[in-house]
Amino acid sequence: MAFPVTRLRRLRRNPILRGMIAETTLSVDDLIMPLFVCPGTKVKNPINSMPGNYQLSVDLLVEECAVILATGVKSVLLFGIPEHKDEHGHVACEHNGIVQQAIHAIKARFGNELLIVADVCNCEYTTHGHCGTIVDGDVDNDLTLETLAAQSLSLAQAGADVIAPSDMMDGRVKKIREILDNNGFAQTPIMAYSAKYASGFYGPFREAAESTPKFGDRRSYQMNPANSDEAMREIALDIEEGADMVMVKPALSYLDIIRRCKDTFNMPIVAYSVSGEFSMIKAAAANGWIDEERIMMEVALSIKRAGADIIITYYAKEIAKVLSTPRP
Ligand code: PBG
Repeated sequence: MAFPVTRLRRLRRNPILRGMIAETTLSVDDLIMPLFVCPGTKVKNPINSMPGNYQLSVDLLVEECAVILATGVKSVLLFGIPEHKDEHGHVACEHNGIVQQAIHAIKARFGNELLIVADVCNCEYTTHGHCGTIVDGDVDNDLTLETLAAQSLSLAQAGADVIAPSDMMDGRVKKIREILDNNGFAQTPIMAYSAKYASGFYGPFREAAESTPKFGDRRSYQMNPANSDEAMREIALDIEEGADMVMVKPALSYLDIIRRCKDTFNMPIVAYSVSGEFSMIKAAAANGWIDEERIMMEVALSIKRAGADIIITYYAKEIAKVLSTPRP
């Protein structure tokens, strides 16, 4: 008998066949695009460390949503840069807050054509940049839950389709579910940032959202990158408390966590390919060291292959464009 008998290369020679046997596919339906909204009109502040991303005032944000929709991407994740901050992040709960205004404006223009996911966290709204109320030099868990619940309700009232708490306080999903249910928002899903690591990959985002902590770091509430079992506990708890979707964040250095989550829980899994992951590719591409489009697609596919159903990525528009371009 000829050797080798099994030739795996047989199925790799023909591009049509390669496509047919692909185990993982990327779709524009998987993508969510993060956006940063700031006060003013006609404001478009470039975020230096994230080329192509901007802090946008509400009017230009609405225009950007039209561009995003035209690529086929149907969902955005909103972050706010408020005019004023306060010690407890209460500005996040104002009816006329910056994200609330943005939601009203987007809904007025696009209705249900565009799904709005609203990030819930205090760090963009507190003077000290931490994700909650500080007591004795550390974020107080239970006091922070009150602000997070109030912020969630306010965002739901403004018209947010999905509430996404990213603070990593214990018990927040339950608190948020309760306040939503008690105020007529029983149908509003919660996308919980369940396994969110204390990661250096958030660096560029903190420039974008002006949310760098003024002292200390986030290690007393975000997870230690050394841990995987603990991520399963975080995710199990969030599901128990009422999360409808669970998230692993960042994505690229945590593909093992995504896979473990997929194998353990029968839940929609979201992966957040964070700012630093985007900026690394951009920087290497700007130097001519890598093929940006190829790497962007390979990274997104890897995240899907690891088990994610949904990918939050600053490359959403570009990925959508590649997906809609017929292959030669
Ligand atoms: C807010 C929040 C952060 C990110 C999303 N929500 C920053 C942080 O925890 O410091 C990071 C997103 C990114 O890096 O793209 N808590």
